[in-house]
Amino acid sequence: MPDVRVCAVSDVKPGTASRVDVDGHRLCVVNIEGTFYIVDDECTHADYSLSEGDVWEEEREIECPAHGSTFSLLTGEPQSLPATRPVHVYGVRTEGDDVIVGVP
Ligand code: FES
Repeated sequence: MPDVRVCAVSDVKPGTASRVDVDGHRLCVVNIEGTFYIVDDECTHADYSLSEGDVWEEEREIECPAHGSTFSLLTGEPQSLPATRPVHVYGVRTEGDDVIVGVP
């Protein structure tokens, strides 16, 4: 995926996640203390949106709202069952008020 603006920094409050659709990709955009993370917005266990789950700020993880697997926002790896496969982690940076996603 080429670099593309996904949202404004102010669109995602610290400690929360939002879903953004870009070029057919369903993305989960997470803000932890002003640092942004982007992973697939689809749990690898079943089709639920991770962006509707809780953000674990200290652990840098997001919890699936369906069955509670948590995923590392750094590696995409599940940290607890029932999910066993990682979600994709995207490269992300901010430029001014823009959140930009790119190729990892
Ligand atoms: S759908 Fe995410 S843990 Fe089951």
